[in-house]
Amino acid sequence: MTVKLNEQELIPVLSTENNLVSYEEAYKNFKWEDVEKEFSWSKTGKVNIAYEAVDRHVDEGRGDKVALLFRDAIREESYTFTQMKALSNKFGNALRSLGIKKGDRVFVFMPRSPELYVSYIGSVKIGAIVGPLFEAFMEAAVKDRLLDSEAVAIITTPALKSRVPVSELPALKHVILVGAEGELGEKELSFENLMAESSDELDIEWVDLEDGMQLHYTSGSTGKPKGVLHVHNSMIQHLQTGKWVLDLKPGDIYWCCADPGWVTGTVYGMWSPWLNGVTSVVRGGRFSPEDSYQTLEKYKVTVWYWAPTAFRLLMAAGDDLVKKYDLSAVRHILSVGEPLNPEVVRWGMKAFGKRIHDTWWMTETGAQLICNYPSMPIKPGSMGKPIPGVYAAIVDDEGNELPPYRMGNLAIRAPWPSMMRQIWNNRSKYEEYFRLKPWYISGDSAYKDEDGYFWFQGRVDDVINTSGERVGPFEVESKLVEHPAVAEAGVIGKPDPLRGEIIKAFISLRAGYQPSEELIKEIQEFVKKGLAAHAAPREIEFRDKLPKTRSGKIMRRVLKAWELGLPTGDLSTLED
Ligand code: WT7
Repeated sequence: MTVKLNEQELIPVLSTENNLVSYEEAYKNFKWEDVEKEFSWSKTGKVNIAYEAVDRHVDEGRGDKVALLFRDAIREESYTFTQMKALSNKFGNALRSLGIKKGDRVFVFMPRSPELYVSYIGSVKIGAIVGPLFEAFMEAAVKDRLLDSEAVAIITTPALKSRVPVSELPALKHVILVGAEGELGEKELSFENLMAESSDELDIEWVDLEDGMQLHYTSGSTGKPKGVLHVHNSMIQHLQTGKWVLDLKPGDIYWCCADPGWVTGTVYGMWSPWLNGVTSVVRGGRFSPEDSYQTLEKYKVTVWYWAPTAFRLLMAAGDDLVKKYDLSAVRHILSVGEPLNPEVVRWGMKAFGKRIHDTWWMTETGAQLICNYPSMPIKPGSMGKPIPGVYAAIVDDEGNELPPYRMGNLAIRAPWPSMMRQIWNNRSKYEEYFRLKPWYISGDSAYKDEDGYFWFQGRVDDVINTSGERVGPFEVESKLVEHPAVAEAGVIGKPDPLRGEIIKAFISLRAGYQPSEELIKEIQEFVKKGLAAHAAPREIEFRDKLPKTRSGKIMRRVLKAWELGLPTGDLSTLED
């Protein structure tokens, strides 16, 4: 089906942005092989992403630079690359002393803390594969992941260890506790003791570019979470997207708010900034609008990467709050994880005087693929264009490329450097993504416009068909959140004998608004007027909170299950 377009808005490149790299020039002339020359392994032949991200800066005279600026409610600490090298060396030695070796799976399960990063880097240095877990995971979620991957060790805290069912995990040999007090239980070890006993000089495990490095579990539309395996080769794309898309320069103070339990928090919270030798800010604790602005102000953050759900909360907190803080250091803002509503982009221009650059990628893609470059005009609501070195297309269900404005499967020509190399223990799930050669099928539906911009429409299975009209739930949700009463909205297709499906919206209201029949009518009118009559939700239900993944995506699948009175399936990635 062909998409009808509203008049398109265009936000031109701002004078404060980096205009040096022309997107078109880069796209035409770029080869990934050129990036390889930037790594020390291109000369030495010795490969390890952790070496390139940490130790290399020490060996090349940049060791005094701050790698990590950490702050939570209790601690405020900073670590230079030299300190990070020494601490991760100690941890690598500690793991080796326990007999852990290349290829073994090691999990980190703790709140954001310096010890988390030390453990992560130390594990990768000895060639282990790290699986990060959100601290909010409950026992069943932890068990699924450790069982599937046959993890041999987990680094966690006394508060979280009760959710690690050691006796049901035959492969698990060690539980390393950060901040343990008193007696240690079976298989338990003290992180601090291990560190104290270990040398800060380590023989790094040199690996192959194709060796496993991290394992991120992610939910699909069906079944248990899948273990997405990434290899050391990903560093090529981590480095380059940091330069192009994050626009990182040596003097930057960069803040990616994502937790490392999510791929954004490892790739863009750690690897990409550190490969570029840039200081990364990590803020522990819960999100609040005040705290976000305080952190930006306090550390004079220059580049800021966060998610639409957070930007919407900031927007709801109001413009007066923004004005209380000095955010003049902020140069570049980016977003990822779910559709960035045009309304949020417009608000960003008003509140910060900056463009919020949308980026599209997935756990499976391992790094950004479709983005708004600093050097290109932004069309609010569009994810941007494929990065140089990547070819994206809209294809039909047979893999034929579709012309502009036709909605279809968002596909990427395989391979690219950071592409996943395996779904752990599940060859057939992996192959499903690549069933239409030469494409990787993302599971998202989208269209491309005549200028080559990509527009997200929904997950393939979320697209609504009402009376023969196809409606992307994102479009409706975007419109709904433009209404002053609406904080967040999730839209699903509800089966209807007459129309196939009707559109149903679940809405949480902004402070100061109460649910009422009148408000329902007003919101329906608003969408009818603002978007299209057929796109207006026939049913609206108010809820205090909407079910969201930890990465902020509204879980339409859960809304649908509520609606149909069906089981909600695997909820391990649910926020609360
Ligand atoms: C799914 C992947 C890798 C970090 C992102 C989350 C949705 C992601 C966007 C965007 C619209 C987006 C897609 C995708 N998504 N970015 N810019 N606009 N949708 O990773 O949890 O693996 O989710 O998130 O549906 O398939 P993830």
